Parts: sequence; C-alpha cells; structure tokens
Amino acid sequence: MDSDRVANPVTARNGAAPGVCSLSAIHNPLSRAICQFLEVPIREPVMEQGSKDSHVSRLLSRDMGRIRVAVAGLGKMGTYHVQALRRLAKGESEKYYKSGLDTQIRKLELCGLCDPDPEKSRRLAPDLPCFTDWQVLLAKASPDFVVIASPTETHFPMALQSLEAGVHTFVEKPLVTKLGEFKILNDAASSNGCRLISGHVERYNPVAIKLRTMLSEKLIDVAGYRFQRSQPRDARIPDDIVTDKIVHDLDLAQYFFGAIIYYHMVNSKRADGRIQEATVFLRHTSGVEGTLFVSWLIQDARKCREIRISCRDGSCMLGDFADKKLTMDGKALSCDVPSWVKPDNNQIKDELADFVSYCILPDPDMPVFQPLLQTWEIKDSIAIIEDLVRWTQSPGDTDCRQEQEADDDKICKR
Ligand SMILES: NC(=O)c1ccc[n+]([C@@H]2O[C@H](COP(=O)([O-])OP(=O)(O)OC[C@H]3O[C@@H](n4cnc5c(N)ncnc54)[C@H](O)[C@@H]3O)[C@@H](O)[C@H]2O)c1
Repeated sequence: MDSDRVANPVTARNGAAPGVCSLSAIHNPLSRAICQFLEVPIREPVMEQGSKDSHVSRLLSRDMGRIRVAVAGLGKMGTYHVQALRRLAKGESEKYYKSGLDTQIRKLELCGLCDPDPEKSRRLAPDLPCFTDWQVLLAKASPDFVVIASPTETHFPMALQSLEAGVHTFVEKPLVTKLGEFKILNDAASSNGCRLISGHVERYNPVAIKLRTMLSEKLIDVAGYRFQRSQPRDARIPDDIVTDKIVHDLDLAQYFFGAIIYYHMVNSKRADGRIQEATVFLRHTSGVEGTLFVSWLIQDARKCREIRISCRDGSCMLGDFADKKLTMDGKALSCDVPSWVKPDNNQIKDELADFVSYCILPDPDMPVFQPLLQTWEIKDSIAIIEDLVRWTQSPGDTDCRQEQEADDDKICKR
C-alpha cells in the first residue's frame, strides 16, 4: 500500500492531480475519517479542469444565492435528470453527502430545458422556459451548469458550446466516442475554468460502491472476473452495443481493478447491420484479468447486469447491478456503506450531487472535492471504445463473425 496515494470514491479527495491525492488529505481528520485506501496507478496527467492552472476559474461561490441548471435532451435519461434535480432542489440530502452540500443543493434552480421537440419540454415541465436550440438556451437562460442527455452523436458539439460559454458541463455516457473530441472538450473545460464530467451512473450503484470498498480494503483477493450485460435491444437506441453498453462495464472495471493496460476484442457478432454482441478481454495494472460480455441477442427479457468475481480462496462473488444485490457463495451481503451510500439510493441524484460539489469553489479551509469519476478514467474509456469500434468496423468484419483468437491489430497494450 502506498500511503502517499489516496482514492476516495464517493466523498472527499484532496489535491488537484486526478487519481492521486496529497498527503494533506490523509492528515486532514475529516478526510482521514472518510477516505478509502487503494493503490492508484500513476497516469499520464490530464489537465485538471477549472483548477488554478486554468486561465480563469468559474467554480461556483458557496455564497451565491441560486445555482441555475439547464437540461438538454428530454427523453428517458433527461427526464430522470430533471426529476433528480427537482428532488435535490427540494433539499433531499443524504447523510453521506459532502460537508455543506445540503445547503448548496437547495440553491438549485432549473432555468431551462432544451429538446427539438417542444412538446417534450411542455409535458415534462410546463412551468419552465423551453428551447429548441441549445445556443439560444445558453445565451438566454444563463445556466451555471448543464446536463446534456441528448443522443450520443450530439454530445461533442453541445458540450463544446456550453464549455465555451463558460458553463460547467455534465454529459451522459458516453461523453464522446473519439479521443480527439475528448481532448478538445478537456482543453475547452480547462481554458474556460469549467468542470466537465461524464454520467457513469453505475459508479453510484450500491453494489459497485460496496465492491469497491471491499476491494480497497483488500477483503477480496481477485483471481478473475466476468461482467455480463444483456437484454433484448431497445429500438430507441441509435448506438451500437460497444458504444452504448460496453462503456458501462469498462468504466466499472477501471473503478474496481484500476487502469487497463491491455485489451482486445475476443469476439463480436453483428446482426441487422450493427454490432449486437461482443466479448472484450481486459488486463489491469494490478495484474487482474477479466472479460466483459455484452449482448442484445439473448432473448431473455430480464435485464442482466452483473459481475462474477472468482477469488483466490475459491469463493465466488456475484454483484447484480440491476437488482442491487451482492452475494458471496450464494449468501447475501448488505450493500450499506455508512459513509458512502445507502442500499436504496437514487443513483442519478447522487451523481448530480457529486457534480454540484465538484463545481463549487472550495473554502480556504475546505478540501478540494473531486467526484467519484476521474478525468483520466473517462479518457481511457473513450480511447478503448474508439479502438473497439474501429476493430468492429474493419473490412473483414462480417455478420455473426466470431474471432476465436485475437489478431495482432486487435490487441492494444498501454
Ligand atoms: N447512464 C445511463 O445509464 C444511460 C442510460 C440510457 C441512456 N444513456 C445515454 O443518454 C443519452 C440519451 O439517451 P436516452 O436513452 O435518454 O435517449 P432518448 O432517445 O430517450 O432521448 C433523447 C432526447 O434527446 C432529444 N434530442 C435530440 N437531439 C437533440 C439536440 N440536438 N438537443 C437537445 N435534445 C436533443 C430527443 O428529441 C430526445 O427527446 C445517450 O447518450 C445515451 O447513451 C445513459
């Protein structure tokens, strides 16, 4: 264990460098009480957004009267975000929220909604200004932060516009699907003093937080793991399964087992012109190896979202992210982690609360709060997704092709 590095997934993280915390966090009694220890790999630095290194910082003052928020894309996820923001604005705090956050969330005020279909805004919130054009919303509603929950292909231009307007920006997953786009957005966030994050809501799943806690405390000695995420395809989703689904488990794999140093696509199946099933092999800096399996071809109506972890002592853990249940050798474990999460939490509410705290200017005596998700992790996920998508689009890729052995050009070492 390297005591110089601290990772605290839900609560406080002191220090500006992503994924690495300073010793002062450990020496701060508050931080020490709530920190979980984990070996965090040293990563290529990604410029911290909204930090003192930025030309400007637009972090929100703790004294401001209102925190104005706008939401774009009022489909399934946008509706959830509007509902969660309303609950926060009503003061629905949780015991594990960071210091002072209960006061700040009450200042939230929805100032505008945006969807090309104005009926959606009117149905969801007839009392709010609605816009069909994002640029117009940014200019007229003057939000302090925005939530972008529009289709994935719109994320890059819309996030760039909000960051260039100096607005803290939360974007549904996947943030973008190309590393080049991520770099442009990260630079725009840094130079405009804004926070930028991607909505990886599964990190706020109590099963994920409990597992991460057990891994951090070295209560599980992992021999290997397998994620499975399968359900019949929802015709509403325009993305293929790599972009839409793998991104969740790729992120969780980093959250649990650390940075990914090697990956390859073991198998992919195409149906109706798009990738609908895939298996990806991963190796982490910790040496842990595992696979991600995603499928829209399994005709079981039940949503399967699970991880199986084989432990070196022969035991097996099963984490069910859909039913929020965790078992070890068939015996149920509580997902309550008192300083982090309660088992029936609202994950979207918690991730938005985390983003609000990330956007607030720390007091001189207060630690710099970092969200659960680190910038380098978002960057790494995007880089891997871009490779996986490219591999599935290679000329040899045909319907229902299975690659039993990875080709050299489908292996990436980092
Ligand atoms: N975190 C998760 O678990 C999760 C789950 C589902 C979807 N998502 C992500 O959320 C995003 C939206 O997915 P969804 O399932 O809510 O889609 P959806 O189809 O239900 O809703 C998308 C909405 O965006 C609107 N829209 C289209 N273009 C727009 C634009 N330029 N500006 C504003 N609004 C626009 C559409 O009219 C629609 O109302 C996707 O990127 C998806 O990957 C995340």
